[in-house]
Amino acid sequence: MGTGYVGLVSGACLADFGNAVVAVDIDETRVELLRSGEVPVYEPGLEELVGRNRERGRLSFSSDVAFAIQSSEIVFICVGTPSLPSGEVDMSFVHNAARTIGQYMEDFKIVVNKSTVPVGTGDEVEQIIRKVRPDADFDVVSNPEFLREGSAIYDFMHPDRVVIGAGSQRAMEAVVDVYRPLYQNDTPMVLTGIQSAEMIKYASNALLAAKISFINEIASVCEAYGADVTAVARGMGLDERIGPRNLFAGAGYGGSCFPKDVQGLAATARRGEVDAPLIEAIDTSNVRQRRRMVDKLHHLVGDFSNKTICLLGLSFKPDTDDIREAPALEMVASLIEAGATVKAYDPAAMEHSKQEHPDLICCEDPYTAAQDADAVVLMTEWNEFRNMDLPRLLDCAATNRFLDCRNIYDPHEMVRLGFEYVSVGRVSRSPGETNDTSSWMIPGRFSPIRT
Ligand code: UDX
Repeated sequence: MGTGYVGLVSGACLADFGNAVVAVDIDETRVELLRSGEVPVYEPGLEELVGRNRERGRLSFSSDVAFAIQSSEIVFICVGTPSLPSGEVDMSFVHNAARTIGQYMEDFKIVVNKSTVPVGTGDEVEQIIRKVRPDADFDVVSNPEFLREGSAIYDFMHPDRVVIGAGSQRAMEAVVDVYRPLYQNDTPMVLTGIQSAEMIKYASNALLAAKISFINEIASVCEAYGADVTAVARGMGLDERIGPRNLFAGAGYGGSCFPKDVQGLAATARRGEVDAPLIEAIDTSNVRQRRRMVDKLHHLVGDFSNKTICLLGLSFKPDTDDIREAPALEMVASLIEAGATVKAYDPAAMEHSKQEHPDLICCEDPYTAAQDADAVVLMTEWNEFRNMDLPRLLDCAATNRFLDCRNIYDPHEMVRLGFEYVSVGRVSRSPGETNDTSSWMIPGRFSPIRT
């Protein structure tokens, strides 16, 4: 139930495992689109995977919820769980799905929560179904999904672990069976209670987000004292207890999960009357980091009014057209509000961004976006920005100012090319400044590891 990001990827992958999957959505237009062979989300490999499984008859799309529920042994709830203004999770879609299941089920069903939900949701789903159908025979299971956008299929097929929380042996065995191909690949299975499974998802995302907020704060301290956060992160990440991943200082985290899940966990703690200052601080720190990028640009170019700013990258991360909670959009909003002209280029997210900010000028490549700009700002580390013709970019712009919010360039190289280069957690440099240590540092040793 639900053909959003998680529903569509999970449905296609579960079909690819050899299961018969019917994916339902209450949005009939979406179902029609999927039936015509189109995939409404940008995700590498998904269209092909959906197409292949449809052709083999293992995957179908329907808006007939009653039929889908009645013809399935296991019902996965994959509907959205957006944030309410209070930070609490909007559970209405999950609750509606539970009611619908109760309404149409005829025989034993296993109801699996794949949507990211606060701890306690399993009980709620059970109560809702029980209320609609007091005599129903069913089990509720929690099976959170950890896939990342942009590598969703790989993540689903090669997870670090599969987490299944169940209250009965028959339900546990049935869901483990769905994942049998992964089990055969030695994927660790964490088999636990429903509440623990729900907590694993929230706690994991909150810690991953905390790691990013932590390195972002370290970056600011590095700037104040002349240290280089990329070297610091590398030195920290080689400690196996810390690990190198999610230690890239940048513009702050965005996307449909981290901001929402961190706020959701904080709200869950508050509701349980638990004092959790560390969890509360993760989001606060991220909000400040995004603001810090705007301040950095202000420091670089001065008053924004009547300035032309070029933004490279709009999506919340590379390889997606998703702009939800993207730090770039906060930058766009601040600039436009202060009277700047914003020209942008992004390989995938321009259409969505333009809908949100009609004043944004979308350009066909980085060089057109940089034309006459008072500063170029790299917001998202798409691969194509790593191989840009930087001298050409410098020629296009009205000034040599470059703000790199993702630390993808070598500061010394940028200065050598003639840029006034500012990045995150590394000393800012202007052409002509000396103190270039790159000549005696052993090449490669000090570059960060990207995983
Ligand atoms: C995340 C989780 O990784 C996934 O397990 C969960 O199920 C959903 O949320 P996703 O939102 O697709 O996945 O993106 P992810 O690749 O984790 O990046 C999230 C954000 O953090 C991006 O804005 C990214 O730019 C930022 N980030 C990530 C950093 O700023 N620094 C890092 O080191 C890593």
